[in-house]
Amino acid sequence: MLLIKNGYMIDPKSGLEGNYDILTDKDKIIKIGKGLEKPGGECRVIDGSGLLAAPGLVDVHVHFREPGFTHKEDIASGAAAAARGGFTSVVMMANTRPCIDNGETLQYVLEKGRETGIHVYACANVTRGMKGKIMTALTELKGCGAAGFTDDGVPLMDEQIVRWAMERTAALDVPISFHEENPKLIVNNGINRGRASEYFGVGGSPREAEITLVERDLQLAVETGATVNIQHISARESVELVRRAKLKSPNIHAEATPHHFTLTEDAVIRYGTLAKMNPPLREEEDRLAIIRGLADGTIDIIATDHAPHSVAEKAKPLTEAPSGIIGLETALPLAITGLVDRGYMNLRSLLRLMSTNPAAMYHLNAGYLAEGGPADIVLIDTAAEVIPGEYASKASNTPFTGWRLKGRVVKTIAGGRVVYEG
Ligand code: DOR
Ligand code: ZN
Repeated sequence: MLLIKNGYMIDPKSGLEGNYDILTDKDKIIKIGKGLEKPGGECRVIDGSGLLAAPGLVDVHVHFREPGFTHKEDIASGAAAAARGGFTSVVMMANTRPCIDNGETLQYVLEKGRETGIHVYACANVTRGMKGKIMTALTELKGCGAAGFTDDGVPLMDEQIVRWAMERTAALDVPISFHEENPKLIVNNGINRGRASEYFGVGGSPREAEITLVERDLQLAVETGATVNIQHISARESVELVRRAKLKSPNIHAEATPHHFTLTEDAVIRYGTLAKMNPPLREEEDRLAIIRGLADGTIDIIATDHAPHSVAEKAKPLTEAPSGIIGLETALPLAITGLVDRGYMNLRSLLRLMSTNPAAMYHLNAGYLAEGGPADIVLIDTAAEVIPGEYASKASNTPFTGWRLKGRVVKTIAGGRVVYEG
């Protein structure tokens, strides 16, 4: 058992907020109250004074690279990075090798996930081999435990496949998540067409590559009623498209990453491959539109797109290096520093974006603090300085190393067990 005394608790789901003690037994919260006494038997008492007690964070967009690319990350190291970042539930993307287009690989990944201290879920692919041509056995994959479906990393170009996939996932009541970048419009991935592409003298990736697919898929989402997640939004026009589509369907969701609400294309000029990601960082107006979207609920999820790559891979020239940055261990401090401290939202709204909403979209039993609910809790010192530099991830590909941020994870508790102590 664990008894967390005197933490400042925020449950974004019920709105309950204040100084409360939290008692857990096995993997459940059994009591929330004031002045709780230590029960008989084995019980660790944790002093939560001065700390925020929040639901364990939920990241519905991580790349753990196992099977196939374990020199970048594996499920154990990815889970360790998650725990260190305050995350107790994650949803793996399916662009492993082999990719998660079959039940065997899905079961392997979920089994590995169960060996970690946190809750590891996985999406399965929408199409076989992520080739965009033939749909996977969605029903069977859901039966094997797929939390949702995505070909993230590779955009789906066949509109008919997208429509069928939305119809099928709607019937199965699972979300389908979309990476929106039309490769036909892109010369170089990961570099915005504009100031960054001009600086490097390359073709880059124009905003239209994202906007056109977002427009197509929101239209299909409205027509099919599917639970659709527009992943890692980068352009202000996409935010506005989501805003309008949400008026027509309650089942539309959208993600933003910490890098897209923190950085602009100038970061690529400054940090090179460490700021190369798909979709790319764009302009200040885009960054601000994403923040407005997060603040008004248009974008209802913060997801990291944790994308580990090795030092050697990121040492390649800009146009050849792989896209993506790690995110699990910097997400919370970036959000506290960039969104809460700057006055765009309060902590309760932030926690909703980082736990309650993503958990609800993927139907995970997570993202709230309540008696009978999961003992997934993060204790945070919101005022403490954090300077990223050491990572539990195998990878270190992030431009945020050395930044002065605020918001330190003090303890992460998953399934009633302390899985990280800072
Ligand atoms: O930058 C990215 N990297 N974006 C993605 O969608 C995929 C990811 C990866 O797998 O490395
Ligand atoms: Zn991704």
